[in-house]
Amino acid sequence: MHNIAVLPGDGIGEEVVREALRVLETVAAVTGFRYRLEHYPYGAEHYLKTRETFPDSALREMRDQSAILLGAIGDPRVETGMLERAIIGGIRFGLDLYVNLRPIKLYAEHLCPLKEVTPAQLDLVVVRENTEGAYVGLGGIMKRDTSNEVAVCNMVWTREGVERVVRYAFEAARRRGKAKRVTLVDKANAIRPMDLWTRTFARVAAEYPDIQTDHAYIDAGCMWLVKNPEWFDVVVTDNLFGDIMTDLGAMLQGGLGIAASGNLHPGQVSMFEPIHGSAPKYKGQNKACPVAAIMAIQMMLDYLGDGEGATLIESAVANALRTRKIPSLSAGKLPTDRAGDIVIEEIKAQAAAAG
Ligand code: IPM
Ligand code: MN
Repeated sequence: MHNIAVLPGDGIGEEVVREALRVLETVAAVTGFRYRLEHYPYGAEHYLKTRETFPDSALREMRDQSAILLGAIGDPRVETGMLERAIIGGIRFGLDLYVNLRPIKLYAEHLCPLKEVTPAQLDLVVVRENTEGAYVGLGGIMKRDTSNEVAVCNMVWTREGVERVVRYAFEAARRRGKAKRVTLVDKANAIRPMDLWTRTFARVAAEYPDIQTDHAYIDAGCMWLVKNPEWFDVVVTDNLFGDIMTDLGAMLQGGLGIAASGNLHPGQVSMFEPIHGSAPKYKGQNKACPVAAIMAIQMMLDYLGDGEGATLIESAVANALRTRKIPSLSAGKLPTDRAGDIVIEEIKAQAAAAG
């Protein structure tokens, strides 16, 4: 029995999570995946009512669950970044989810804004470091609102932190068994302390003679991702760089409406979420695309060992996109619940065909 914590959060979070859970129910009926849901109310609405952001008790409970599904956090009525840091940051840091795994995969050629890029040419995963870098919160502001104001933000990397995420990337390249290439993306020319990444990457790479290595500075890496996406197999990079590069990657796949991520601590409870935000202007309108949340379920099933369920969801989504039953991944093109229905119909059709 898998216990799944569900935290829909703000904005469109609730609607896309609702569709994702309907898909989970459908797949579980096919594969026999057994689960129980535990719902959590945290987000802007809860905060405005109770002044509570994300209590330690919730984090303690989540530690004992199998996985966490998160919708989206962020609301214009609350101070910028406060809930994101408390809830998303609270879970990532509190559970030491050091890998942020972000697949960038094209399922249907017409969804890619680049000319003549085929699905075979856009299929990579970004392994974003998820517990260090600029996100550690080491820094601040002094002499606020004076002409002498100073703002400091430290990027922090540790040898252990870099090594474990780099190692994960090499293991991922082996598991994927595709190009077997890991590309380190950094900015070690301008930010010299990133030499820690350079040296750690070389040391770990020596243990994986079957995996090729490559390197790009983050600016050039973004350029190459547009120019020659087929060069990438597994990318490993810093927290902030990975954040930026994967929004670019999402657009190449067809939009934020499909991009999902897994916040992982291999072997422990991990958190799955669409990479899009809460999009408050679409809240409650049945306009948001639920495919990214559905793909978060796909990643979750894969992580929990239900490979059959993961494959079913992935091929259902791929088919719905290729046949244009889901014509677009942008908001407003198809009602949220209708998109959920289509994925569910595809799953049922595939399960029936497989007997
Ligand atoms: C993401 C988001 C978050 C991040 C925000 C909401 C804090 O953009 O998951 O990519 O920057 O990590
Ligand atoms: Mn982001």
